[in-house]
Amino acid sequence: MGKNEGYHHFKGNKLNRSEFVQRKVIELILKSKLTDKERESSKVFELKHSSGCVQVGRILAEKRRLNKEYAELICALHDIQVIVKGKYKDHAHLGAPIAEKILRATVKFNEKEIKIISEAIFHHSDKHIYTKNPYVELAKDADTLDCFLYDNVEGYYTGNKPPKVAKEYFKRIIKLRKEMGMRPVKKYEAIIKQIDKKIKNGNKTN
Ligand SMILES: [Fe+2]
Ligand SMILES: [Fe+2]
Repeated sequence: MGKNEGYHHFKGNKLNRSEFVQRKVIELILKSKLTDKERESSKVFELKHSSGCVQVGRILAEKRRLNKEYAELICALHDIQVIVKGKYKDHAHLGAPIAEKILRATVKFNEKEIKIISEAIFHHSDKHIYTKNPYVELAKDADTLDCFLYDNVEGYYTGNKPPKVAKEYFKRIIKLRKEMGMRPVKKYEAIIKQIDKKIKNGNKTN
């Protein structure tokens, strides 16, 4: 190995298959012609969130004894539709085939591996559903944990998601922080109570 090479080089052709795909995703963001004005999130956020999710996904894979490489790929590609098109609408379902295409183009993944990765991406927005598929759950959890590590994210969920969906995010992050041995965040329980009230009132008026 030359003196300029190492895990952090991401240069040249000596990357492993996961690094190769991770670089591809970053390049898609950097070289995208879509400006921040045309995107629902900024390019900076896409870079931060995709990279952040990969790291969170690696930690979750270690904790859950899962395949770390699949975790890296699922996380790097999970919002690929948003990266490419700039829009969140139905992005999990629309992103899965894009991810498949990227993986297939490398000629380094077999169909079984492509299925594991694309299935996790396809379902990653269903935060309200708990499945027995560990990679589907890893996609949802890495995404949730990365997002909740930012400051003051609570308002985004309570303000932009339907109450029932928002509640599921808070339930998931509480469960996830417990699993990871992180300190409990008191305000999450309080927010869930507020959401419950909203749901109850909504039911009365409907
Ligand atoms: Fe997403
Ligand atoms: Fe995401």
